[in-house]
Amino acid sequence: MKTVLIAGGTGLIGRKLTSVLKERGFKVYKLTRKAKKRGYINWNPELQTVDTKNLERINIIINLLGANIAEKKWTEARKQELISSRVNTTIFLRKLTTNMPKLEYYISASGINCYGPESETVHIETDNFGSDFLSQLVKKWEESSELFSDLVPVAKLRIAMVLSKDGGAFQKIKLPFKLGLGAAFGSGKQHMPWIHVDDLCRMFVFGIENNLQGTYNAFSACTPNIDFSRALAKAMKRPFFMPRISEKLLRFFLGERVILLTEGIKVSNQKILNEGFTFQHKNISSTFKHLLK
Ligand SMILES: NC(=O)c1ccc[n+]([C@@H]2O[C@H](COP(=O)([O-])OP(=O)(O)OC[C@H]3O[C@@H](n4cnc5c(N)ncnc54)[C@H](OP(=O)(O)O)[C@@H]3O)[C@@H](O)[C@H]2O)c1
Repeated sequence: MKTVLIAGGTGLIGRKLTSVLKERGFKVYKLTRKAKKRGYINWNPELQTVDTKNLERINIIINLLGANIAEKKWTEARKQELISSRVNTTIFLRKLTTNMPKLEYYISASGINCYGPESETVHIETDNFGSDFLSQLVKKWEESSELFSDLVPVAKLRIAMVLSKDGGAFQKIKLPFKLGLGAAFGSGKQHMPWIHVDDLCRMFVFGIENNLQGTYNAFSACTPNIDFSRALAKAMKRPFFMPRISEKLLRFFLGERVILLTEGIKVSNQKILNEGFTFQHKNISSTFKHLLK
């Protein structure tokens, strides 16, 4: 039985992944700043302290650390927090491997928004990083994961918007639709890559079981925003008649974060498909029906 440490295991993806891994026979510890007991390992990456008990058992690290990208306005201080909660924490996690003699694999979350603004190009993993804030954040984040590569094989999943019935983007997007006020954002033409949380968890397990190395775009499909919104209204049996919400109005409320809704990206998932991975949720309409069940 392999033992996994999920750094950031208390979050949306980590909670689901914990149960998926346990079902598959892995022993799971979660690294957290919150005071928790059985099954958790406490740390404080800012103070660089950790409860080292149980670290010696760890065979695999899954790194899901990071302050929430969408939650707060991107002030300069928040941008620093978004970076340090991924980069500085990962650097400290790398230091902790001196207490992990049995470590054999490392896999980390990364972000799909790393190729710059949408163009006609369908991006693959070897394409250049964009110059915008998110792309540069992903670059630094992935570089910190590479610190593990002198020890063990390293994989990074460039995750798209995760659709889950337990929280995250889907719960927020759903609200206006529930009131019959659902609408597309910006031009509505921007491509939105997405992945069902179940497929993402299967992808982490696939990475571990197949010893994947390198970077993989992690999404099921890339749906234009207007099709995404129309499919959601239909799945919720609500009307879809509202005019598109202009970027200007969204920017007023969200500031720089507006790009999360109005900037699209076209990406390829051929690399992970070539490894033999299959997605169970590829169609947005049936995915919404599944999430709303
Ligand atoms: N959900 C998505 O749609 C999505 C899409 C693309 C990429 N991702 C990435 O995937 C990872 C996991 O996503 P998620 O949705 O599960 O995130 P989440 O629910 O926000 O959980 C993030 C985890 O990171 C830890 N964390 C947050 N700020 C921290 C800080 N300053 N220092 C140390 N730990 C900190 C928290 O652990 P404790 O509070 O327990 O310490 C928490 O468990 C993140 O890196 C995220 O950017 C997510």
